[in-house]
Amino acid sequence: MVEDTDRRPTRDRQSILASRQLEILEAIARGAPLASTLADVAALVEEQARGMMASILLLDADRRIRHGAGPSLPEGFMKAIEGEAIGPAAGSCGTAMYFNKTIITPDIATDPLWESYRDVALAYGLRSSWSIPLLSSDGRVLGSLAQYYREPRDPSPRDRQLVDIARHLAEIAIERHQAEATLRNRNAELEALNTRLKEMDQLKSNFVNLVSHELRTPLSAIRGFAEFLEDQFGGPLSTEQISYVAEILRGAQRLQALLDDLLDFARMDAGTFHLEREEVELVSTIGKTLESLRPLALVRKIDLEGPPEETQLRLRADPARVSQILINLVGNALKFTPAGGRVSVAVFPLGGEVRVEVNDNGTGVAPEHLLHLFERFYQVDSGNSRGSSGAGLGLPICQALVEAHGGKIGVTSTPGVGSQFWFTLPMAV
Ligand SMILES: Nc1ncnc2c1ncn2[C@@H]1O[C@H](COP(=O)(O)OP(=O)(O)OP(=O)(O)O)[C@@H](O)[C@H]1O
Ligand SMILES: [Mg+2]
Repeated sequence: MVEDTDRRPTRDRQSILASRQLEILEAIARGAPLASTLADVAALVEEQARGMMASILLLDADRRIRHGAGPSLPEGFMKAIEGEAIGPAAGSCGTAMYFNKTIITPDIATDPLWESYRDVALAYGLRSSWSIPLLSSDGRVLGSLAQYYREPRDPSPRDRQLVDIARHLAEIAIERHQAEATLRNRNAELEALNTRLKEMDQLKSNFVNLVSHELRTPLSAIRGFAEFLEDQFGGPLSTEQISYVAEILRGAQRLQALLDDLLDFARMDAGTFHLEREEVELVSTIGKTLESLRPLALVRKIDLEGPPEETQLRLRADPARVSQILINLVGNALKFTPAGGRVSVAVFPLGGEVRVEVNDNGTGVAPEHLLHLFERFYQVDSGNSRGSSGAGLGLPICQALVEAHGGKIGVTSTPGVGSQFWFTLPMAV
């Protein structure tokens, strides 16, 4: 057995070791490249024990050996083990990584673990080695750290102490490098995803714009000619034909409303949506809107009531849009209230704003759905079982319109009892 031959005073060696450690830690903190940090760690070990060659190997995702550092080891030997699989008898390092334990080979010439690599190791003059696994903070094997000698020998207590110090440095460096690589990959993935989302968003809004513009022209032709027919400009119609034409017109109106909603969303998403604000008297606007809905209420046998006409509330708002909000909310109330029910609209001035409430004693909405009602295309029961039509765009449009005015919108509801949809609008200053 050969003993530690370094005759430098222990104190000198210890202080050199301490300052090397510090330098390496600083380099890791600065984000130095992994290869250079590992080479420094290997050099630190070699510097402390003359004649010893250190190696640091990395374990890749396929559990194969990858070069880390081996500044003094013969290049041919390092090349021979590069890319080799670890296993139960794969030299000192491959076996140490495989079993996650320290493997000591006092003589490569006789150790069965070295069978596959014995010839190459002996050819390069390597005679003894020992290796410890390098672990991540959560216990994964990251690689191995080994010492080689050109003569048969066991590791000395000094070797063990050195390797212990070096292993910590190598583990920190490798783990940090892996964490950074993971972070870089995630960032790249996120960036790619973001670009894709932007493209899809652009595509969607181009598509909506195109579709709604392209559909408008034929739709106006359908409406126009159906109206001609309805007015019997093309000759007298039978009662049956009159009812068919009425169906065509109703369908065309529904399509028109849907296109208007889609186009509004497209404008809002593109930031090109604008309100046409003017002085508005709220109660009379509500009155006019309710008048337009009265035929529907009559058909559905629902009592529809508005706020007392004498109330005066002045706002700066877009009257067409305020009316659109009401048509949606009152339209919903009429749609989801059974015959014989009641729908009422009330207004309350409150500080600098006015609160408008649309109350019904209809089906109500279960609490788990309430939060989602204002999402685009959300419908409590969108199956065919529901008797009511629609696309689930009314409430999100209302929300966008109310918020464009600087107001808020909300709902309280009890299933089987009824709902209150409310919104606020700032008063004119
Ligand atoms: N007054 C109400 N009573 C009970 N449920 C309601 C009421 N108002 C809305 N809802 C529920 O909220 C869902 C979404 O309403 P929204 O107005 O956004 O869409 P829609 O009326 O289904 O379709 P659209 O308004 O696009 O024609 C409705 O499908 C319904 O399930
Ligand atoms: Mg609706």
